[in-house]
Amino acid sequence: MGSVQLVEWPEAIVRVQALSDSGLAAIPAGYIRPQAELPSLSTGVDAADASIPVVDLETGGEAVAAVAEACRAWGFFQVVNHGVDPSLVERAVEVWREFFRLPMEAKQAYANSPATYEGYGSRLGVDKGAILDWGDYFFLQLLPEKFKNQEKWPGLPTHYEQSKATVQEYGDELVKLCQRLMKLLSLSLGLDVNRLPAAFGGDDAGATLRANYYPKCPQPELALGLSAHSDPGGITVLLADDAVKGLQIRKDDRWVTVQPLPGAFTVNIGDQIQILTNAVYKSLEHRVVVNAEKERLSLALFYNPKSDEVIEPMEELVTAERPAMYSPMTFDEYRLFVRSEGPKGKSQVQSLQKKPHVLRNHAFVHDQLQTSGRWGPGGEGLAFAAMINYRLH
Ligand code: OGA
Ligand code: NI
Repeated sequence: MGSVQLVEWPEAIVRVQALSDSGLAAIPAGYIRPQAELPSLSTGVDAADASIPVVDLETGGEAVAAVAEACRAWGFFQVVNHGVDPSLVERAVEVWREFFRLPMEAKQAYANSPATYEGYGSRLGVDKGAILDWGDYFFLQLLPEKFKNQEKWPGLPTHYEQSKATVQEYGDELVKLCQRLMKLLSLSLGLDVNRLPAAFGGDDAGATLRANYYPKCPQPELALGLSAHSDPGGITVLLADDAVKGLQIRKDDRWVTVQPLPGAFTVNIGDQIQILTNAVYKSLEHRVVVNAEKERLSLALFYNPKSDEVIEPMEELVTAERPAMYSPMTFDEYRLFVRSEGPKGKSQVQSLQKKPHVLRNHAFVHDQLQTSGRWGPGGEGLAFAAMINYRLH
């Protein structure tokens, strides 16, 4: 078996924050999106602000129905009465704000590599020459415990232990919320309350946190803070800045700006839920736009299946009329795509979609690749297919 080369970044890393702080008037060419992705052009006329569905978690059966509706129609919703202490949220946000305010030298001590992505980063994917996003981030592992490495977590010089403890407490509370949401999602599909938690590997489910930091951008009409993608994992609970908008979702082929309610979390389902539910629920493409006046911070908690658990459509949702649409794959295999390719719309989950005569088993996939070198609708799964090819050697 060969190994995928995720060892080093293909180019020297430039911190977007350093570019922004340098006061440059025009952004470097490497951040300019192609025509079709420019925020000003692809938003259509006037992208209206979307009030995505709100689910009150204290409403029992009503919450189940609201989740079912929101997931079928949107794949995105906001949760209120979620039980997470607002003062904890405030403290967590402050830790991350302070981290990004540290001198560059202090932040560089946490510089990450594509081998694990843990730490301070400025790009997703190792594609040389790729157009980069206007954002820096900090990525860390929360669960499973054995992958947690607090050495790689930021510690603020002024209150080192306390800042790590706050990150831990925030992670713990958000994981609890995700576990609640997984149960709610199971019920919303008419399944046993523990069906999705079990499919995620029970107590061995994974969780990671990405603090996204989008500095001010002198030419926001040319760049994206985070280019279009669907989240590869299970569910994402996002704390978006309610004072600085930036998140957009692709709804009916238009990009619509999300205005989060103060105190709410934005929840979206990822590709693993799309696969498990046989596309009854679909992950929705989203992206982040930046602005010239204000920096923006968001905290994304990703709740994922156990990394070596095989994920495939749940048999309860597979029928003769609706056969399994996706081939089985572990999340470890799946996330290699985003880790090497970076955000690429929904091409990855689409590339896993079965065609009537293909993808019966890996050996067959392998043959397909050897002979045609193409896979997936329009060949956009090519890069991912190439990696599966890797794995098979
Ligand atoms: C993400 C994401 C949105 C935001 O981190 O996957 O979509 O508003 N973030 O930062
Ligand atoms: Ni996302």
